[in-house]
Amino acid sequence: MLDRKQKLSRLIELGLEVSQISDLDVLLEKILTEARKLVNADAGSIYIKEGKDTLKFSHAQNDTLQAKLGPGKKLIYTTFSMPINNKSIAGFVANNGTTSNIPDAYKISSVLPFSFDGSYDKISGYHTQSMLTVPLKNTRGQIIGVLQMINAQDDDGNIIAFLDEDEPLVQHFANMAANAIERAQLTRTTIMRMISMAELRDPKETGPHVNRVAAYSLEIYEAYAKRKGIPQKKIDAQRDALRMAAMLHDVGKVAISDNILKKPGKFTEEEYAVMKQHTVLGARLFNGARSDFDEIAEEVALNHHERWDGKGYPGHIDLETGKPLPGYADEDGNPRGKKEEEIPLFGRIVAIADVYDALSCKRVYKEAWSEEDVLEALKSGAGSQFDPELIDVFMEIIDVIRSIQARYPDRE
Ligand code: C2E
Ligand code: SIN
Ligand code: SIN
Ligand code: SIN
Ligand code: FE
Ligand code: FE
Repeated sequence: MLDRKQKLSRLIELGLEVSQISDLDVLLEKILTEARKLVNADAGSIYIKEGKDTLKFSHAQNDTLQAKLGPGKKLIYTTFSMPINNKSIAGFVANNGTTSNIPDAYKISSVLPFSFDGSYDKISGYHTQSMLTVPLKNTRGQIIGVLQMINAQDDDGNIIAFLDEDEPLVQHFANMAANAIERAQLTRTTIMRMISMAELRDPKETGPHVNRVAAYSLEIYEAYAKRKGIPQKKIDAQRDALRMAAMLHDVGKVAISDNILKKPGKFTEEEYAVMKQHTVLGARLFNGARSDFDEIAEEVALNHHERWDGKGYPGHIDLETGKPLPGYADEDGNPRGKKEEEIPLFGRIVAIADVYDALSCKRVYKEAWSEEDVLEALKSGAGSQFDPELIDVFMEIIDVIRSIQARYPDRE
């Protein structure tokens, strides 16, 4: 457990750390992790306000439940919404903007307006006891969500009440977090607008597809990186950029005309050749790499249709001219496809995420496949279309992949 002085100095560092994260999901996870560390809480959740009067349960962590899962497995939780009113603890905090520090959730005084909903405890076998719930307030004093810490622990792991003296500390952290969240929400809205305006000109399909491909890609990367012993610090540093880059993998489709993009049937060879340009066109948008994000976005847009066996596209090209790089033309003068590890890692990862999603869903040109058929296609593509080790990783985390699918359903 940190002492008071350590907590204060950590708080100052954290202000800078959270201000540097621009991806919303990565940020929420970081906020939850650090807030829990600050007060030694076993579990925690974040609720984000949606519209005027709803709270959406957005993120959860729980060390005890996590420890019961195998190593490398992730907690799977479903999102749900609740009204902002005084009946629930989180609702009360969002409604009144006050902090609530409850020593025992199962012994809440009946004079208080709220009660604890123990249904999640019943399902999970977890026992919630102490709860510290603080509002997430932006600089204008508006409440954008709620941060909830669960089960403070002493140094021996016994559950204790949250210290009164920790309240201002957590509130201060929550205020910094709220501003960072607001900024990330704005970035995300901007990116989503850019995608839905440009990419498909059909907002119906875009959001969920793009979110799923990004979320799958992150999970594949994390599981692979752990397997390879890539340090957590490096993983964390790349997550943010990878997520946004994966969301923009098809942004080059902006430049493809509607009669090709939305053709309700199979492409001719010429149409397919035009469509293939979306990789190069997308990559050019990020050319000149000003940041990690630009670099990774270029890598993903350019390489997500390369194949492990070298038969993908666009191959070894000069991004500016689109012509083969010197020494990389085949006998017909076409660029040779990139092969195996010539394909950058994030390209190999997004390729799997993208095809898994494309096959699982209905598109204008195809019906949805059954999960069995999709997984069969991925397995039989291991070593030809896809990096075989990454397919291994993907099959290992298939439960997490399914939960993402459930979290971002296609809109009707
Ligand atoms: P997308 O719909 O996001 O599909 C991404 C990739 O998933 C495809 O890359 C392909 O590797 C795989 N995929 C999708 N559907 C099928 C399928 O039915 N069978 C198999 N074996 N693989 C599938 P690809 O082929 O390079 O296509 C890139 C993009 O071009 C697609 O993105 C889609 O927007 C468009 N596209 C491809 N073929 C057609 C077509 O016949 N008609 C139309 N309208 N669009 C197509
Ligand atoms: C962002 O937040 O920076 C946009 C991408 C995302 O949120 O996933
Ligand atoms: C609440 O804040 O009342 C919801 C907490 C929970 O059910 O876990
Ligand atoms: C879609 O049809 O949902 C989008 C295709 C894509 O963006 O890959
Ligand atoms: Fe693509
Ligand atoms: Fe795609």
